[in-house]
Amino acid sequence: MDIEKIIAEMSIEEKAQLLTGFEGKTKGFEKWGIEPVWMVDGPHGVRKGKSNTEGGCVCFPTSSAIGASWSREVAFKTGEAIGRECRQEDYEMLLAPGVNMKRTPYCGRNFEYFSEDPVLSGHLAAEVINGLESQGIGASLKHYAANNQEYERTTINAEVDERTLREYYLKAFQVALENSKPTSVMCAYNKLGGIWCSENKYLLTEILRDEWGYDGIVVSDWGAVHNACKSIRAGLDLDMPCNKNIASDVKKGLENGEITIEEIDRSVRRMLEFIDRTKKMQKGKCQYSREAQHEAAKKAAEECITLLKNDDDVLPITAKKCKKIGVFGRAAERPVIMGAGSSAILLDDEKIDKPLDFIKKNAAEAGIEVYYSPVAATTFAGGFMGAEDVGELNGWSQGNDFDAMILFVSDNYGLDVETEHWDRENLTFSNYLNGMVESACNACDNVIVVMQTGSAAIPGRWRERVKGVIQMWYAGEAGGSAVADILFGKVNPSAKLSESFANCDRTEMDVSGDGRKTWYNEGMFVGYRYYDKNKDKIWFPFGHGLSYTKFEYSDLQLSSKKSDGENIGLTVSFKVKNVGDMAGKEAVQLYVSHKNSVVLKPEKELKAFDKIELLPGEEKEVSFELNKKDFEYYNICLREWHAESGKYAILIGASSADIRLSGEYEIAYESDYSIDTLSTKYLQMQES
Ligand code: GLC
Repeated sequence: MDIEKIIAEMSIEEKAQLLTGFEGKTKGFEKWGIEPVWMVDGPHGVRKGKSNTEGGCVCFPTSSAIGASWSREVAFKTGEAIGRECRQEDYEMLLAPGVNMKRTPYCGRNFEYFSEDPVLSGHLAAEVINGLESQGIGASLKHYAANNQEYERTTINAEVDERTLREYYLKAFQVALENSKPTSVMCAYNKLGGIWCSENKYLLTEILRDEWGYDGIVVSDWGAVHNACKSIRAGLDLDMPCNKNIASDVKKGLENGEITIEEIDRSVRRMLEFIDRTKKMQKGKCQYSREAQHEAAKKAAEECITLLKNDDDVLPITAKKCKKIGVFGRAAERPVIMGAGSSAILLDDEKIDKPLDFIKKNAAEAGIEVYYSPVAATTFAGGFMGAEDVGELNGWSQGNDFDAMILFVSDNYGLDVETEHWDRENLTFSNYLNGMVESACNACDNVIVVMQTGSAAIPGRWRERVKGVIQMWYAGEAGGSAVADILFGKVNPSAKLSESFANCDRTEMDVSGDGRKTWYNEGMFVGYRYYDKNKDKIWFPFGHGLSYTKFEYSDLQLSSKKSDGENIGLTVSFKVKNVGDMAGKEAVQLYVSHKNSVVLKPEKELKAFDKIELLPGEEKEVSFELNKKDFEYYNICLREWHAESGKYAILIGASSADIRLSGEYEIAYESDYSIDTLSTKYLQMQES
């Protein structure tokens, strides 16, 4: 494509038309051989196919579940598989992944986001993008930035301090862009610091392009542009879904000096480069099998479903432990596999694996009897019922008729509880579900709760009474068979929480503001960064997840690399051994803690992670390379990132609350930015 020639030949109208969409695609121009680029939602699959694939497109685990996999491989393979869906349906760019931080579990779209931590989110998003690209499909990293609630998302102004913005809310975008090349970044609806993200030059040009070197296009969220000329000037290129007045807007802007032709051509050039790159990436139709894609969704779900509690090794269910089990709750036969909104996949119900079907199959193989009841809402009409009512109505009496009881609970019953456009009203389960679990605890010693939620939930009074807890997330269409294989030990669970599960609300946050502005008064003390200081409020911590085997960590080694007197890096290595009798995978986590900093910092922050597979008795060495950036904070006076000299703790954790190994690393600079040096440097800046 001879881009400069095309720009020279294009009229103003044609240039303007290239900067907006037409029914979900960009504009084509036959005379220059420019084909439209087709784009489609969303993060866990193709929302609606064009080829009417029998049964609809495949629904993969949502991003919050992928986050719990802690696996770059799972993220890549999921991106790759969704890329095949796009090829099958003739789409060229997927409007995903989303990397917004989970400021609170109330955000309705948290199921579409990976984690409360920007490093975990950024790396997993990068792998989804790389997986898509391996299939020749573009991506749209979204929603840039500080789109952390659905309440009044198109009018809210997010008031975020600069350090929190840089070190937390933008960090996931920065990490993703350091590790992948998405064809687009999607700007968010909201305002940041009082300026629409769609016309925020600081975000779209100064940070995204000038600092981070991003060279793709910026696409607006659907209807997020308020003024075409201001958006183009700020660095936005594609106004979606369609601005029918863009030609007149641009012409008027040129006439009244609101925009220059150079600014228009800059976006036209980026659009032509985007189209050229996207078309060259295409790989055309692939060998497509819906069954194989469903199997890929199951493999992913197996690594996302998280075992949170397993007292007395109540799981896995085996013939040795159980002769008869009870399964309860409608979510066992009608699992909630995703949230609502633009990410929702239109697929046929019969493509969805029902947990109950696969529990029955696995139980029959083991010679275990299964009893099931949906415990319909009518049983508990109007609120909490007593155990005897529940026991009576649902076939279980006092005493242990069942060797184990598995209760499926969900927060989304066709009520769109976790959805785009709205935030959650509460984080607990309904009275009748909590009542069902409590009643089961009165009737059986071995109660296992399987939760289906897109984001963190707060437990009922059964929290301490149940022996087993599994977080299924929104595990996609194959989550039902995956959870059954985990329940019966055919699959060893290896997932860990990508967001904190608290046992009560945070009441001090200005969670969603007044609809016009919300103040992020908690700073970056979100998730484990907050619960590290408020341990009493946590149910299960960030990074927590159990296995049916056990892992031991040992032999931490730190070796720093120096050049001309400055520490420029650190190699961290340690060993992990599977000391159990079952093969398993372990997500290992590296946190850095700097207690005596001159500025306020979280107690510790995730800097690296990996997931390793070990056979029984096998031991592997894990090694991470840290560099200066891993020790930096953003200094708002120097307006740059800075690694303060001092002693840092290097913490190796099985979770954020289960540190297995620790060591100390000292950064020593001649030009130490201690208070006096900082102010000297600042004065120099003023003079320069
Ligand atoms: C929606 C969403 C965005 C989606 C787009 C297209 O409003 O915010 O995530 O990709 O519009 O449906």
